[in-house]
Amino acid sequence: MTDFYDDLAPLYHLIFPNWNDSIQRQGEQLDRVIQSEWPGYRMVLDVSCGVGTQSLALAGRGYSVVASDLSAMAIERARREAELRGLAIDFSVADMRTVNQAHGTGHDLVISCDNSVPHLLNDDDLLLAFQQFLACLRPGGGCLITVRDYEREERGTNLVKHYGARVENGKRYVPFQVWDFDGDHYDLSFFVVEDDLGTGQAKTHVMRSRYYAVSVERLCELMRQAGFESVRRIDDAFYQPILVGTKSVSG
Ligand SMILES: C[S@@+](CC[C@H](N)C(=O)[O-])C[C@H]1O[C@@H](n2cnc3c(N)ncnc32)[C@H](O)[C@@H]1O
Repeated sequence: MTDFYDDLAPLYHLIFPNWNDSIQRQGEQLDRVIQSEWPGYRMVLDVSCGVGTQSLALAGRGYSVVASDLSAMAIERARREAELRGLAIDFSVADMRTVNQAHGTGHDLVISCDNSVPHLLNDDDLLLAFQQFLACLRPGGGCLITVRDYEREERGTNLVKHYGARVENGKRYVPFQVWDFDGDHYDLSFFVVEDDLGTGQAKTHVMRSRYYAVSVERLCELMRQAGFESVRRIDDAFYQPILVGTKSVSG
């Protein structure tokens, strides 16, 4: 899994038609949900920041952001992207299953966006991660997670997910995924064809990982089991379902 995101880090922005526009849009949408759920909260701990899509977005909107990820290469790129934008974000490498040891407690908000938690391949690991998220929060703190809605995804093998094509610096990039289900899990191959429009030479990058196609309902149950209160799903506020939960004010 770490190799997957280490290799993907330099290409990650190609998933989006325009990464900066997506950063802007995600920032507006997450800010709206955060301020409606937990008015006035401004300190975010992003526990799966990757190359920084949501961390950059929220820091750009004045949030104070601490961010970590399992992939050292993704963190290296996130640091560069923050520098380029003049944003001060405290980045580090950490596993979301041990974030309390890495980041301590007292945070207003813990976020984990864009389908990161389904990289944990069983309920025990998900529960452990959610218990760690809870421990990172101050009393009354909020947790916000966004995931794919696997109930709406076709299951099978040789399933191809296209992203279109992007042209950058004289090269055309064609990213696409191939999914192969195996029960409630699937193996994902992420291909990026890199076509040099000047020389006509092409090469293909391929990165492979495995996901747990866990339902939103099961994730909500596990958040409640971990000790979160007021757990619920929010639809139509972001491009994925959002799950929110709050730590009791009595801690
Ligand atoms: C789809 S990416 C999303 C990254 C980022 N939130 C974004 O939208 O740009 C999923 C991220 O989860 C991270 N990840 C997977 N398992 C992890 C773990 N156990 N602890 C911390 N990060 C993890 C990966 O390294 C990857 O950066």
